[in-house]
Amino acid sequence: GLFVLRPDGWVGSALALRMDAIGELEGYFGSFLRGSLESLVAKRTIDARGGMVMPGGVDAHVHLAEPALFGKGQSADNYETGTRSAICGGTTTLITFAPQRKSEPSLLAALEETHKRAQDNCYTDYSFHLICSNAGRQAISEFPTLRSKGISSLKIYMTYEALQLKDSEILDVLFEARKNKIVTMIHAENGAIIDWTIKKLEEKKLFDPKYHVTSHPPVAEIEATYRAISLSEFIDVPILIVHVSSPSAAAHISAAQSRGLPIYAETCPQYLFLTRKDLDKPGFEGAKCVCSPPPREGSQDHEGIWKGIEDGTFTVLSSDHCPFIYEDTEIGKKSVISPEYPNGHFKYIPNGCPGVETRLSLALSANRLKLQKFVEVTSTNAAKLYGLYPRKGALIPDESDADLTIWYPDGELGDFDLKNESLHHNVDYTPYEGRTLKQWPRYTILRGEVVWDRDGEGLVGAKGYGQFLERGVSVLKGSVKEEWNVEDF
Ligand code: URP
Ligand code: ZN
Ligand code: ZN
Ligand code: ZN
Repeated sequence: GLFVLRPDGWVGSALALRMDAIGELEGYFGSFLRGSLESLVAKRTIDARGGMVMPGGVDAHVHLAEPALFGKGQSADNYETGTRSAICGGTTTLITFAPQRKSEPSLLAALEETHKRAQDNCYTDYSFHLICSNAGRQAISEFPTLRSKGISSLKIYMTYEALQLKDSEILDVLFEARKNKIVTMIHAENGAIIDWTIKKLEEKKLFDPKYHVTSHPPVAEIEATYRAISLSEFIDVPILIVHVSSPSAAAHISAAQSRGLPIYAETCPQYLFLTRKDLDKPGFEGAKCVCSPPPREGSQDHEGIWKGIEDGTFTVLSSDHCPFIYEDTEIGKKSVISPEYPNGHFKYIPNGCPGVETRLSLALSANRLKLQKFVEVTSTNAAKLYGLYPRKGALIPDESDADLTIWYPDGELGDFDLKNESLHHNVDYTPYEGRTLKQWPRYTILRGEVVWDRDGEGLVGAKGYGQFLERGVSVLKGSVKEEWNVEDF
């Protein structure tokens, strides 16, 4: 029979349906699931017997066409190439970032600029999180307007000079986010610990890519995570800690959740599949895996992160796709090589790894998560937290878009080695080159249209078919109290 996964607690193989009439079913997905297929005339029949049918992937952490945070480097993927890569890997919805520069007081200006970059260029449906790096009066006053424009989330940083907010500014953001039912994503690393450690390494002339890991110790993440939780608890507002790499940071998150606080967390494939050894390679090669926080020690850390996914500490598994070309001395990772630093300097390496296309297949091929949990963390929960549910992240009759990822029956593909040349991003490497995978999407379907057909022509979606999604509010647990009174604290 056909596997149909219902993310709201129902997994069944009872519906022995063929995927009839997909092309006709836009807006009519309900009758499809209810089995009244016979009455429909199929434009096309997809036989998915024995396969797995899931809601399309929702990747809520993707950087496209963003200026680098520091030093040189330039995003390798724009909205066209990044969203193209996503559908080929089974992801139908992206939430990317609209970055505000510190010198720019307005968030709305950043939103408009980002709309221009995305408009008519996307293969997936999409929305934006605003990156708030200047939390002055103007930005804060724009929160209600953001909401009216369908934006219900922000990202803020506790590190990176170009983006970092002081604790008082974080409180300003959280306080206003609470009033406007905005979810705040927090990059939780202690900027001072990182900067101090970089200085110590420089005094010893240690510049190789592997020292990026040394300069971002777990304690920087652990401390900032605990501080972010404390600030959220004080304001009584939901937050999501992004790209958690350290099981000890996850323990703080889990403890806060156990106290009933609306603390959410994200992790990424790089914290399940990469280690610090991936940065410790001859020459400059390690730069390929420079991201922040960095990959940690090894299997114990990976195990801790998998457990956190299984036990619900992590709400979402996102890619943090942040692509830079490697072999490019002008705009890529190698742009930091100079006569002064012939092997580069770790602190200038643009941070981030590509991964929007490999996220689902890596996680599914690991054969670690129950399918139910896999769907939750790769699709449903992101839709719930960021105000897209049940249009996205679900297969609910009459409510969900017909966004589907169809996987092969177990074992049908056989083991194969991942090669960057088969990916569709605009990056000249994948950190996962040569890994053995067992799964790859057979079809990706967006609003009833097949956009990826692995056994057919591959990429069959069209640039510009992807639409901007106006988002509502989170349907996950929010503020604990109705009113905010300073006297209560
Ligand atoms: O190294 C990373 N994660 N680069 C992307 C920027 C960010 O902080 O998410
Ligand atoms: Zn970040
Ligand atoms: Zn990121
Ligand atoms: Zn192909």
